[in-house]
Amino acid sequence: MQKFLNLLACPRCKKASLVEGDDQLICTNCNAVFEISHGCPVFLKEKSHSSGFLGVMQRGFDTLEFLELTKKIGWRAAIKRTQVEGEPDKLNEINNEFRTSFLDLLDLNPHSTIVDIGSGTGGVVLQAAQKGLHVISIDRSEVDASFVREMVKQERLDRVTCVLADGINLPIQSNSVDAVAVVGVLEWAAADYPNENPREIQLEFLQEARRVLKKKGKLYLAIENANFIGYYLGRPEPHCRLPFISLLDDSSADKFSMATRGHKYLEKTYTLDGYLEILLNAGFEKVESYWPSPNYRTPNAFVSLEIGDGVKWFANNLVNEPTDSDFDQMTLSFLRFSPSGLGRYFTRDYAFVCEKP
Ligand SMILES: C[S@@+](CC[C@H](N)C(=O)[O-])C[C@H]1O[C@@H](n2cnc3c(N)ncnc32)[C@H](O)[C@@H]1O
Repeated sequence: MQKFLNLLACPRCKKASLVEGDDQLICTNCNAVFEISHGCPVFLKEKSHSSGFLGVMQRGFDTLEFLELTKKIGWRAAIKRTQVEGEPDKLNEINNEFRTSFLDLLDLNPHSTIVDIGSGTGGVVLQAAQKGLHVISIDRSEVDASFVREMVKQERLDRVTCVLADGINLPIQSNSVDAVAVVGVLEWAAADYPNENPREIQLEFLQEARRVLKKKGKLYLAIENANFIGYYLGRPEPHCRLPFISLLDDSSADKFSMATRGHKYLEKTYTLDGYLEILLNAGFEKVESYWPSPNYRTPNAFVSLEIGDGVKWFANNLVNEPTDSDFDQMTLSFLRFSPSGLGRYFTRDYAFVCEKP
C-alpha cells in the first residue's frame, strides 16, 4: 500500500487535509473526493487526452490490459512489448546510467524529496528512489502513472508516491519539496488546453512547480532548443514532426499547424533567451544553463553555457565519439567551427537548474 498523505494536499483548496477512505482520498476541508485507481489517487478534473509516453493505446493495448500484462510478466518485459522498431529503446532509457546524472546538480541529500512531473515510463523515479530519495511521481496519463506505480511496487521501493495529476495543479503542499524535475514535459503542458495560449499554460506550470518548492529548492528543466541548428536544415521538430515550425513566429506557426494538423501549434519550445525569460517570469532566480550532451534524456556531460567557449571546446572533444540521428556529424561540425560563443544558441537540447528565492 503506498503512503499517500505525506506532503500531498487537496488540489482544489490546496490544504493538507486529505484523509484516506475506502479506495478514495477525501478532503476534510472542502469535501472533495478523489478515487484511487490502479493504486494511484486521481487528481485530474477531466481525463487527459494524452496517450502518455508509453502510448500503449497506439500499440494495440488498452490501459487495463497493459497493466495486467505488467503484473503478469513484470515491468521490464511489458516495456519491451511496447517497443517499436526505430524508436529509442525504452528499457535502455529507463536503466541508462546517465538517466539521473542531473541529480548531482541539485544539492540533495538522502532525506530530500523530489517531484518528477511527467514521469512517463518512470526512469527518473526509479533511479532517484534507488539512490535513496523520496519521490513524488506525477503524470496526467493514466497508463503512465499506473505503470510507474506497478514498477516501484515490483521493485519494492517504498519511498515513492505515484499520483495521476496535471502539473499545472499539483496535489502537493506549498513550500514542501526540495526539488522538482521536468524532463521532456513542459513542451507538452499545453496539449490538453488547445484553446489557451501555450505560453500562459507553460508559465502556470512553472509557477506551480515554484509553489511546491521550499525556499532555495531547485527546479531542473530539460527540453529541446527551438533554435536547434538542425531545424534550419529542415530536420522535423520532434514533437509535431513538422519542419521549420519552431523557427516561425507564433502566428505563422499556428497557421502552419492548422493547415497540416487541424489545430494550433501547442508543443511550444523556446530559444536560450526565451527559456531564461520564462523561468525568471515564473519567479525563479540563479538560473544556470547547460548543454546536456549528447541529449537531455541520458546526459553524460553538462556543458555550462555561461562559459564563452564551453560548447566549442566540448564539441572538439567529441570528434572521435560515435554520433546518432539526434546528434549527427553536421551538428557536431557546426558546434566545433562556429564563431566563439555562438554554439550555445544552436545546441539540440538545454538543461536549466534554478532556485526558488
Ligand atoms: C516525453 S514524456 C517524458 C517522460 C519522462 N519525464 C522522461 O524523461 O522519460 C512526457 C510525459 O509527460 C506527461 N505530461 C505532459 N504534460 C503533463 C502535465 N501537464 N502534467 C503531468 N504530466 C504531463 C505525459 O503524459 C508523458 O508521460
